[in-house]
Amino acid sequence: MSDILLIHDPNLNLLGTREPGIYGACTLEEINHAAVEQCAAAGARLDTLQSNSEAELVDRVQQAGTDGTRFIVINPAAFTHTSVALRDAFAAVGLPFIEVHLSNVHAREAFRHQSFFSDLAQAVICGLGPRGYRTALEAALEQLGFGNNSN
Ligand code: DQA
Repeated sequence: MSDILLIHDPNLNLLGTREPGIYGACTLEEINHAAVEQCAAAGARLDTLQSNSEAELVDRVQQAGTDGTRFIVINPAAFTHTSVALRDAFAAVGLPFIEVHLSNVHAREAFRHQSFFSDLAQAVICGLGPRGYRTALEAALEQLGFGNNSN
């Protein structure tokens, strides 16, 4: 059981080699490692999931609705712009969540300007690279009452 769930959607397993001019050199492992450290320093339990499967992601969000998870940070990646099913899962469980994008999706192709998540999200962070996850987790930790999350 975790306090916070950090979810990475399709193709984010390729971070570090995937279009580094857009997504940077940081790997998913490095992002997850920093997130685990940040949460542990504050006394919170973090679970992480990366999946390329919409079904697995829907199942995990549904599970978060009943397993004690209190907050979700998600980069919905390409599913941001396509997945009504994943949006409906968030609406169904009603957990607070922050939507993160590494790149500034609004400065990119028009199809990336539409998100099925932003109106349900507590906040949206885009364009800050990996720092976006740190900022989202800092906000989540503060809201959940965990201390020492200034790193
Ligand atoms: C992304 C932006 C999406 O448009 C894209 O499909 C991704 C990554 C980002 O982090 O900038 O896979 O969510």
